[in-house]
Parts: sequence; C-alpha cells; structure tokens
Amino acid sequence: MKFFLDTANIQEIREAVSWGIISGVTTNPTLVAREEGSFEEMIKAICQEVDGPVSVEAVSTRAEDMVVEARRLARFASNVVVKIPMGVEGLKAVSQLEVTEGIHCNVTLVFSVNQALLAARAGASYISPFVGRIDDIGWDGMGLIREMVTVLERQKLASQVIAASIRHPRHVHESAAAGAQIATLPFSVLQQMAEHPLTDRGIQRFLADWEKVQKNMG
Ligand code: E4P
Repeated sequence: MKFFLDTANIQEIREAVSWGIISGVTTNPTLVAREEGSFEEMIKAICQEVDGPVSVEAVSTRAEDMVVEARRLARFASNVVVKIPMGVEGLKAVSQLEVTEGIHCNVTLVFSVNQALLAARAGASYISPFVGRIDDIGWDGMGLIREMVTVLERQKLASQVIAASIRHPRHVHESAAAGAQIATLPFSVLQQMAEHPLTDRGIQRFLADWEKVQKNMG
C-alpha cells in the first residue's frame, strides 16, 4: 500500500517526504484553510515537493463549472489530481475530465460501495472512502473499505481506493489488509506508525549495554 500525506502544510510535507515513504498528497478546503498565503502558490509549492499525485479539490457545484475549475487547477502543475465530490454533477464532470480531457480525478466524500461503483464507471483514477467519518456516526468504516476493494476487484474496475479520513494507525494496517491501494494520512498518524514503546525500551537497553562494553574495554 502507498502512503499519501493528508495535509496542505508544507513543513509536514517536507518532513514526511524526507522519510522516503510518501507517494502523494491529498488536500481539501478545510486543510487549505488552516494554512496562510495564496492558494495557487501553496499548491504549486506542494506539487514541487512531492514526486507523485497531489489532490486538489474543486469547489464548484455544477458539472460545467467543475470542469472549468478542474482545467485551471490542472494547469498549476503536471502532478495535480482534481478532487471531485461524489454526486451526479461530480460524475458528469469526472467522465468528461478523465475520458475526454485526460485530467485525473479523485472522487471524494464516498460513503458506500454503490457510490464507488458509479465513480469507477465514470472513470475516476482514485476513489476516497472516508473511514473515520463513517466510524464517527457509529457505522463500520473498515467494513466499507473491505467490501469496496473486493467489489471493484471482482468487477475488474481499475480505480484505486484511497482509504481517507484516517484517525489512527489501526485504520492504516487494516486498510492495507483489506487491499486498499493507498491510505492518505495526517502527519500525526504517520509519526505514530513509526513508534512503539518496546522499540524505545530496546534502544535504551542496547545503548546502556553498549556503554558497559565501552567501560569494560577501557
Ligand atoms: C481525504 O482526502 C480527506 O482530505 C480527509 O481524509 C478527510 O479527513 P477528515 O474526516 O479527518 O476531515
């Protein structure tokens, strides 16, 4: 499974990219609103840092307007993927952008297998089911990922599933076990994934023992 970073914060992106494990970035209007400066400059800077797709969300509500907006966003950089919210207008826009214009789309705010089937048929390169927001309302977010991945594979539909709205490391390894091709993670979850108390305790013990070795030798 590939890891994308779910942020518009350039420092987090630079740091995570330096770990050598980031394959893309996803943003949304909420994440962009947390940062300062011009939207266009922010996206261009992110696209330069990342060797992989950068999802940027369209905020228009009618298909024709989404297409115009997507063309503008796609001109920011060659690795921009346009995030289109699920819905009838979104599907119309995605089919035109993917099939006719060659602009890759990430269909976002997906909460059911049927929505994913429609997005895949429209030609979406990526589909983003929101695991955490489903859990938040007491449903089974991971169950949705499992079913979606199984159905898309069985139907031989090529869209890649991005497990999104990830809240904790368990969401990540369960998405990987379910077969999601990508998980998009807040930086805090990425940090948590690298940590384990037994790793810290093991390092402390090895360092203490190594000091003893040095003393014995000296
Ligand atoms: C995905 O692309 C979205 O940007 C994101 O994962 C939403 O997460 P949230 O539910 O924590 O806002």
